[in-house]
Order: sequence, then structure tokens, then C-alpha cells
Amino acid sequence: MVAMHYLRTIPLLATVAQFLAATAESTVQRTSASRDNDDTPLPVVIWHGLGDTYAAEGIQQVGELIQAVNPGTFVYFVRLDDSAENDRRATFYGNVTEQLARVCADLAAHPILSTAPAIDAVGFSQGGQFLRGYVERCNAPPVRNLVTFGSQHNGIVDYRACESRDWLCRGAMALLHGNTWTSFVQSRLVPAQYFRDPADLDSYLEYSNFLADINNERALKNETYARHIATLENLVLYLFEDDTTVIPKETGWFEDVNGDEITPLRARKMYQEDWIGLRELDRKGGLKFKTTPGEHMQLSDKVLTDAFTEFFGPYKTAARDQDVVGEL
Ligand SMILES: *[C@@H]1O[C@H](CO)[C@@H](O)[C@H](O)[C@H]1NC(C)=O
Ligand SMILES: *[C@@H]1O[C@H](CO)[C@@H](O)[C@H](O)[C@H]1NC(C)=O
Repeated sequence: MVAMHYLRTIPLLATVAQFLAATAESTVQRTSASRDNDDTPLPVVIWHGLGDTYAAEGIQQVGELIQAVNPGTFVYFVRLDDSAENDRRATFYGNVTEQLARVCADLAAHPILSTAPAIDAVGFSQGGQFLRGYVERCNAPPVRNLVTFGSQHNGIVDYRACESRDWLCRGAMALLHGNTWTSFVQSRLVPAQYFRDPADLDSYLEYSNFLADINNERALKNETYARHIATLENLVLYLFEDDTTVIPKETGWFEDVNGDEITPLRARKMYQEDWIGLRELDRKGGLKFKTTPGEHMQLSDKVLTDAFTEFFGPYKTAARDQDVVGEL
């Protein structure tokens, strides 16, 4: 069995320190010279994964790295409770629809996020599909770029293993096994709400409390979901090459894995009939499939830095150039 890997194990501090030293001078110049122009990077919202918390060191270090790459970025860490312990608990227990509604309300009421022209977002593991749900159901404030790492966009066919002393995790997994489709489990156990077995789609379509809805797999499609996804500038899907924690790992790319048969997203009906806007996004070049070496959530600071450099930062580069001309 594979132990859970949490972000808090990532050694990011050295890189952050280097960045801060290198950018300290330019940060001062930028903030004093241009407070109100479009040079300001968009805020970034981070949603952590199963068994993690918004307050965990690894997640906080990701925030520091984002600020090192784009100085002045406001970073918001999604939480379902200010208590780190309760926030961790909510990664295992809760009704995802209700959790998401709570996050939508928090973001919409936030003084900085709600007044930004847009926000960027990064989701780790299940936080990735939850942020996609945010875009589909709420998207106020609107997301420009959404980056997901090892997320379960097409569900999972098996539950992950827990560390032997992680009683919260083990308790949740014990309830899950064999009970996935009961309403008790669908309304209370988070991973069950993105469980999807292609060999038993009927149960999934009937009972799934979250994934079947946000993937628009039922007969009645919600057109708002597709419209919102298509308004993204980029949806960036990172897949861990050696992921043995998420089964199947190809779910990170919306691939359908039925036994040995793997159907890539572009060959699927959900893409061809554009149930959630992915085809339209792909047409304008905004759907990005990426891989990164390693096991689930074994992220290097280089991979994160590259992603934050490419997809986060100021709203419009063009506007920045105009400002420079104006100042001359
Ligand atoms: C579709 O989703 C939007 C956003 O969540 C919601 O307001 C609307 O009621 C949904 N429409 C249907 C038909 O369920
Ligand atoms: C989850 O919460 C939503 C909103 O309160 C509710 O409509 C839904 O029935 C709940 N899901 C289950 C399986 O109870």
C-alpha cells in the first residue's frame, strides 16, 4: 500500500529565500512607482488536497513561492474552517456541494478578491476538481487561469491508502468501502462524491452527489457550467507520471479508463458534444495537458515556479506596455 504524500514535505524554503533576495529591489521599485496600474498581479486562490489543511507548512510555502515569482500577489488559502484541524477534517467529511457554496460565498465577500478584475487559481489533488466546480457553479470573482495538479477530474475507481496512525483518514475510508452509493456516504464522505467506476456508470449517474453533476454527465446539462469553463483563459492539467495514489492517474487529464482501455478526452463524448466547455476552451488554445515526474504531489519547486511564471501575474501584459509608453 502507498502512504499519503502531503505537500508539507516539499523543500521549498531555499528557493523562496533565493527569489526573495533576487527580487527584493525590483519589488520596492514596482510598488512605489505603480500602485494603481495593471502591473499588479492578479490574486491567487489555493485549494489544498485530501488530508491537508490551508495552514500546513507546504501549502503556505506554495503561497510564498507564488509571491516570490510575482511580487505583490495577494494569496488566499481556501479553508472550510479557520481551525486547521477542522479544515483538515472537512477534506474527508462533508457534502461537497455545501462546502463549495461556502467557498463561493467566502470568495464573493472577500474585500480584495471580490474587487479584482479576475483571480488565478491552483488546486492540489481534490482541490483541483473543487476549484473547477467553483468556476462552473459560481465564478464570481471570475477565474482567469486554473492550474490543477494530480486532480481527479474524471473521478477515481479506488480509494487511497492512509498512513497507519491517521485515524481520521482510516475512519473515513472504513465508512467508504462498500457503501459508496448510500445517501449517508454521498452526503458526508468527500472522496465518495468523486468516485466513478466506468464499469458501473448507472449507480454513479443516479447517486453521485458531485462529480456526475459538474461533469454534466446526466441527461439534463447545465449550460452555465460549459459557458463558465469556456471563459477561462487556460485550464492547465498536470499529471504525475508515477502517480500510484490516484487510481487511475489519467483522471488528471479527464481520460476515461475502463480496464485496459484508455479513452483520451478528445475522443470522449463529453468533449465532442462539449458538455462542460472543454472543446471550446481547447479551440482557443486554453486547454493544456502537462506531466511532471514523480509520485502523487511530489512537486519540485522548479515545476511550480514554471507554472506560476507562465500562468500567474499581471492581468494584461499589453496594458502594462501602454503604461510604459504613457510615462515616456
Ligand atoms: C446551473 O448552474 C447554475 C450555477 O450553479 C445555477 O444557478 C442554475 O440553477 C443551474 N441550472 C439548472 C437548470 O440546474
Ligand atoms: C448535499 O447538499 C445539497 C445542498 O444542501 C443537497 O441539495 C443535497 O441533497 C445534499 N446531498 C446529499 C446526498 O444529501
